[in-house]
Amino acid sequence: MSEILLQIDGKEVKAEEGMTLLEAAQRAGIAIPTFCHHEKLEPYGACRICTVEVEARGRKNLVAACLYPVEKALIVRTRSERVDKVRKMILELLLAHAPEAPELQELAQVYGARESRFEKEPSFCILCGLCVRYCAEVKKENAIAFVDRGTRREISFIPEIAARECWKCKECFPLCPTSYLQAAYFLTQGLAFPPPSAEPASEK
Ligand code: SF4
Ligand code: FES
Repeated sequence: MSEILLQIDGKEVKAEEGMTLLEAAQRAGIAIPTFCHHEKLEPYGACRICTVEVEARGRKNLVAACLYPVEKALIVRTRSERVDKVRKMILELLLAHAPEAPELQELAQVYGARESRFEKEPSFCILCGLCVRYCAEVKKENAIAFVDRGTRREISFIPEIAARECWKCKECFPLCPTSYLQAAYFLTQGLAFPPPSAEPASEK
């Protein structure tokens, strides 16, 4: 695999062909925030919080670091006025959905995002898709799915599969940036599967 030299935040970084900017930055110890990225999952490109500025042949563009492949001599800025502005707007939008999420609040401090700019519509899920994709791609179970479209889009546990599989797994819980997932699971469990006391004691 051929080696590619590029510059990230003024630092010369060695990467391999086929890597994304996010992977190259992580390997160089440069942090880029992510919400929908997970190293075990296919790139998704939904949240855009990983937006960075790239410069090549005198042209500057904003791209999603988790999707954009490394290129020879590319100049990458993980923080710039444009990048910070985009991240701030994304955070304000997401905070309207999940105002209490610590992960969002922490980044909101960094980017000066205010909760009040967009009308609050707490759905508590930011539709990062980590739970749905982890269950499908890693666990091959599809116990969680997206339902509905547009502003009504939400995640939902599929009771028949969740009742059989989730109690012994729950690997998706820590992935959720808002903790909504746990609430959705226990709600589905309360409505559609046996209560925890009916679960085998040794497996809880
Ligand atoms: S429930 Fe959590 S992990 Fe699943 S899509 Fe929503 S925010 Fe992401
Ligand atoms: S982490 Fe890149 S788009 Fe979500």
